[in-house]
Amino acid sequence: MSRTVIRGGLVITATDEIHADVLIEDGRIAALAAHDSTLAEGWLPAADRVVDAAHKYVIPGGVDAHTHMELPFGGTFASDTFETGTQAAAWGGTTTIVDFAVQSQGHPLREGLDLWHAKADAKCAIDYAFHMILSDVNESTLKEMDGLVEEGVTSFKLFMAYPGVFYSDDGQILRAMQKSAANGGLIMMHAENGIAIDVLVEQALAEGKSDPRYHGEVRKVLLEAEATHRAIQLARVAGAPLYVVHVSAEEAVAELARARNMGLPVFGETCPQYLFLSTDNLAEPDFGGAKYVCSTPLRPKEHQAALWRGLRTNDLQVVSTDHCPFCFVGQKELGRGDFSKIPNGLPGVENRMDLLHQAVLDGHLTRRRWIEIACAAPARMFGLYGKKGTIAPGADADVVIYDPTAEQVMSAETHHMNVDYSAYEGKRVTGQVETVLSRGELVIDQRKFVGRAGHGVYTPRGISQYLA
Ligand code: URP
Ligand code: ZN
Ligand code: ZN
Ligand code: ZN
Repeated sequence: MSRTVIRGGLVITATDEIHADVLIEDGRIAALAAHDSTLAEGWLPAADRVVDAAHKYVIPGGVDAHTHMELPFGGTFASDTFETGTQAAAWGGTTTIVDFAVQSQGHPLREGLDLWHAKADAKCAIDYAFHMILSDVNESTLKEMDGLVEEGVTSFKLFMAYPGVFYSDDGQILRAMQKSAANGGLIMMHAENGIAIDVLVEQALAEGKSDPRYHGEVRKVLLEAEATHRAIQLARVAGAPLYVVHVSAEEAVAELARARNMGLPVFGETCPQYLFLSTDNLAEPDFGGAKYVCSTPLRPKEHQAALWRGLRTNDLQVVSTDHCPFCFVGQKELGRGDFSKIPNGLPGVENRMDLLHQAVLDGHLTRRRWIEIACAAPARMFGLYGKKGTIAPGADADVVIYDPTAEQVMSAETHHMNVDYSAYEGKRVTGQVETVLSRGELVIDQRKFVGRAGHGVYTPRGISQYLA
């Protein structure tokens, strides 16, 4: 048996803050005990390794429930592989990702899932799981959903945006929701009215509006709010729960709040880019705005207060990254002269835990709420809680020793994501990951990467624990 003791830190979970030592046995949390008692209890003489956490936080590894490693988009591929992306995640204190396997139109779900397993197998530094993107809702894919839920792919993303690519019409959405109501799956919705957006894109381009900032202008707040409202009503008709991804607009939060006030099982996720960036970034000169093109788009700054409020009131439950990096050179540049050809997505898997810690210092969140929205709630939402998302006996020993006073400047010069820019270049934040354990093994040891490709394993999921 291997034993590690993490000594002297402040253990923070979604529910508690306690000065305690943590005993890890064979990759799992075995016990927590008052700091002074662990010597008497014989933990220390029996330990193979003692990790000093004095003056540090001891927190559950982050759970990022929204990543796109190697996603094919707009004729290119997201630039992080499972190898580079999971290393970067670990550097940022995230120990589990849930990535989106993609069904290609006209092909079975199984084929897309097999492809994603092949991409990730033996590559990951941390544990991983999959959602499934449905590009094609039909008799045969609906049938396949049952089997996927049984084998641990318990959530399915549908798109009201991107006609001709990932788009599903309302009938397809309703049928997938009816299916998930029956089999325990959770529908995740990209809620933007893509049919209307495409009209506005065409009109903008015809008027010579080709700059990245028009990406934000045509993807209107009202079209996010309308799609969010429609998705909620369809879920009600189907009797299904609903999780809306990458919520960016105040009006969309209001739709979620209204549904939740009615007691409906409707959930919302936002992402760091909507909390910290805005249309000001999209307007950066010399095509610089392309770095910030993602969908839903960045919004005017005024929307941020509603997102923070939603995170406090639990109208929004999860902050994940939608990590989908494309290099500026050669990838974002595909859209020079036509914003609609800029691959959509931002890097961020390495930045999430630190940005949200900064939000604690800025007074937006409490420390426990930080852990709730970044670790516990995503784990619960996607059927991983107990194993992931907390520090408690029986849980996987995915633990981060976090230095709440270290200062850092975010930069592409120092980050580990495989992308040639940082969305947060030059941003100063207080707080930094010091050491990371994944199932009891060191992945980051005092800011040195000591992990390995293939340590991370595929982790099948149960059905959403928010609904159990
Ligand atoms: O711009 C984004 N979000 N790219 C990734 C695909 C998606 O819609 O989540
Ligand atoms: Zn095929
Ligand atoms: Zn999306
Ligand atoms: Zn996404």
